[in-house]
Amino acid sequence: MKITVLGAAGGIGQALSLLLKMKLPAGFKLALYDVAPVAPGIAVDLSHIPTDVAVKGFTGDDLPKALEASNVVVICAGIARKPGMHRADLFKFNAGVTRDLISAGAAICPNACFCIITNPVNSMVPIAAEVLKKAGVYNPQKLFGVTMLDVIRAETFVANFLGRAAGTIRVNVIGGHSGKTILPVMSQVGGFEFTDEEAAALVRHIQDAGTEVVDAKAGNGSATLAMAAAGYRFINAVVRGLMEEENVIECAYVEGGSQHSRFFSQPMRLGKEGWYKVLPYGPLTQAEKDSLDLMLPTLRDEIRMGEDFVLKPE
Ligand code: NAI
Repeated sequence: MKITVLGAAGGIGQALSLLLKMKLPAGFKLALYDVAPVAPGIAVDLSHIPTDVAVKGFTGDDLPKALEASNVVVICAGIARKPGMHRADLFKFNAGVTRDLISAGAAICPNACFCIITNPVNSMVPIAAEVLKKAGVYNPQKLFGVTMLDVIRAETFVANFLGRAAGTIRVNVIGGHSGKTILPVMSQVGGFEFTDEEAAALVRHIQDAGTEVVDAKAGNGSATLAMAAAGYRFINAVVRGLMEEENVIECAYVEGGSQHSRFFSQPMRLGKEGWYKVLPYGPLTQAEKDSLDLMLPTLRDEIRMGEDFVLKPE
């Protein structure tokens, strides 16, 4: 199986590539592409790590070679936030990057699973869907917006709050990946009932966690290392599904027939053809229902921005 990372020289791309090189099963191939000419050098560097994952780096006109025969394409190319910026401020630059990379993927490896990390995820996934549709190769079950960072943050903050061991808590995060569209379903965390105030404080921390990192990095980018860990967990889940492991369940932002919006993040089962069943996330409390109602206009606007970028170019 071959995994391609686009934007591999970036903060996320490098850390994610390291995790993939270290942890993918023996026999896997890893292709790293970036417009930055250092990408082949990053691949040489990684190739000295003693694992049976073959890694090759590409730059410039060699995007088709990076994509050739790929099973999973991860897009973390584009620009990241600086203090004072919202994810939506990235739209102008990253929309073109996502469109062009997905167009190449549609032409060269149309059957791959496409996993989009580039922000704003809420709009980049609709762009990818419309580009794949135009090319006649759109399979909704193989297009994912990676919202896993919100999940791992939720799991970390809740475990810390409860004094439980890290990794023992599962939290579903539904909606999208920006501000109030990030909705952790605190009422369904097993074995504990939060008061409304406790739940609200944890939700606020999870929603603001990206900005907390942007501010703490003081102008030097946004989350990269936790995102790489989250990206690895998600890609590994996609791969396990493709390899027909049963019962692989994670949250992702997909076109999955949600009653709420065309694209919606929720838990799903992963299989040999991508995701194959979106799963219920349990009954919501009134406060959670209110939060969901409140986020939907924003989420739908962000989806429309992505669709319009492809369908109604200026
Ligand atoms: P970065 O600036 O460190 O790296 C981006 C890389 O993309 C650079 O190496 C750049 O050369 C490359 N690039 C730009 N245009 C390209 C193109 N057309 N083809 C190939 N490569 C290209 O940024 P970082 O921190 O790695 O973030 C990447 C993206 O991920 C940003 O859009 C950021 O907002 C997003 N992100 C998403 C998260 C999520 O939860 N989904 C969390 C954190 C960041």
